[in-house]
Amino acid sequence: MSHAAITSVASWLPERRLTNADLERMVDTSDEWIRTRTGISERRMAADDEATSDLAARAGTLALERAGVEASDVDMLIVATSSPDKSFPSTACLAQAKMGLTCPAFDINAACTGFIYAIELAAAMIEADRLRTVLVIGAEVLTRLMDFTDRATCVLFGDGAGAIVIQASDEPGILSVHLGADGTGADLLDIPAGGTARRLTPELLAEGQQYIHMNGNEVYKFAVRAIPRVALQALDESGLKVSDVDWLVPHQANERITNTVGESLGIPHERVVNVIEKTGNTSTASIPLALDSLYASGKLHRGDVVALVGFGAGLTYGAAVLRWTIEEA
Ligand code: ACO
Repeated sequence: MSHAAITSVASWLPERRLTNADLERMVDTSDEWIRTRTGISERRMAADDEATSDLAARAGTLALERAGVEASDVDMLIVATSSPDKSFPSTACLAQAKMGLTCPAFDINAACTGFIYAIELAAAMIEADRLRTVLVIGAEVLTRLMDFTDRATCVLFGDGAGAIVIQASDEPGILSVHLGADGTGADLLDIPAGGTARRLTPELLAEGQQYIHMNGNEVYKFAVRAIPRVALQALDESGLKVSDVDWLVPHQANERITNTVGESLGIPHERVVNVIEKTGNTSTASIPLALDSLYASGKLHRGDVVALVGFGAGLTYGAAVLRWTIEEA
């Protein structure tokens, strides 16, 4: 049996910035409310001619370059996304063509936990000696799913993409992954209409049912309960303890959530990676964006233990424990 390890990380953000000051001009909100309740001061917004597959292809191409992997050597492409270009074909197929890959390609939808679900799948295929090189991308253009008259949601989300290459390795890199889902909470965060459950009608369009709807308080409570628990489960399965964790890389949904999770696990504040101030919540892209930012800072060293934790619509949750096998940036 092979081990699976991350051999590169990369990310890509669109150029256009949407600041809290811009949002103040659009809805009844304030920079002060957004920063103190979420930690966000700006987020990126895809250009009108950019779709999720474009962002995915940018981050994916960079990850392949950094790993020194040729397009012909990629055995599988998995794109985790909640904002696909279209219902079908998959965003992965569209990004695959843009990157010049020829491997099997498909999407995963586990909302913001999608990147961790994809890591589990890629690692299992590599450990079973079925594949040697998998490109995993998390990419979103969430601003196109936002109701820019709803202040409860439009201040939270942003666009972006992050990617990792996972390869067969002589040394263990991905030590454990623990996933979960609770579909009884599906109504807490969803896009009510536009799928097969509710066909879009002019009336539903006028009500804004094609956009993201969220019960923020309930999602908040779920997150601070579920994340520490799943992190401990994944750590237990890897044979490690919280005190072994060098870096906690949480899904970037709200700085208050990541701070609370860090505190309840007893991980020092400076060891909890936070990039939400400049990105907002980028769903499946947020964990690789945060990981790439940590790597680029030069603080992430070979041998460090990294815990990735996420939660999202579904409701879904998950954690992955890694030993970092790449030399520092
Ligand atoms: N600007 C100003 N006031 C606002 C805004 C805004 N943008 N949004 C809400 N308010 C008001 C509310 O109307 C309310 O006013 P009231 O007291 O007069 O009724 C007040 O602020 C407090 O509202 P709450 O919803 O209680 O605010 P809270 O502190 O809970 O923060 C937030 C809301 C930021 C949404 C928080 O609940 C949260 O982060 N929840 C988790 C959301 C999350 O993580 N979602 C992503 C999941 S990942 C995925 O799958 C996509």
